[in-house]
Amino acid sequence: MAEQAAESAEAGGLPEKITIQMTVNGRPVAVEADPWEALSHTLRTRLGLTGTKISCDVQACGACTVLVDGLPRSSCTYLAYEAQGREVLTVEGLETADGSLSPVQQAFIDQSGYQCGYCTPGMLLATHALITSEDADDDDAVIEHMSGNLCRCTGYVPIVAAVLQARKAAAASRG
Ligand code: FES
Ligand code: FES
Repeated sequence: MAEQAAESAEAGGLPEKITIQMTVNGRPVAVEADPWEALSHTLRTRLGLTGTKISCDVQACGACTVLVDGLPRSSCTYLAYEAQGREVLTVEGLETADGSLSPVQQAFIDQSGYQCGYCTPGMLLATHALITSEDADDDDAVIEHMSGNLCRCTGYVPIVAAVLQARKAAAASRG
């Protein structure tokens, strides 16, 4: 698809580059990108945010998950131009203002919710979006919510434990 878009651009069908203005991890950015460019590419190669991982590149594994306006998106198939004017959160934006780990990051450490770590940025962001959900309070609900994020290492049990710990911490901080 990218090759077809590139050929179309050469033929005058699309502009060569577009400027995308968005907020990334709380900071406004303006970045030049190809019109057919995936957000994962923009984040990693143009903004240097390599915490976002690419694995399947076809929206099947969740490794590239980022939040766009608070919702999980597979950035390997979400086009960068779709993020125009929106708020994007990557794993680099999870730590708190004083540099300490977020409750989600701490929960994954406490529960050993990773091994190779390749799926972890996507897992952290999916969890960040999930922890305020009303029905995410047992193993089955968490597994249902996280079913778009695959892990080949952990067997998922520690990941579920981490999500539940993060959810409990979020609830406690709300009082
Ligand atoms: S790399 Fe995007 S879903 Fe797998
Ligand atoms: S920790 Fe290796 S893929 Fe999940």
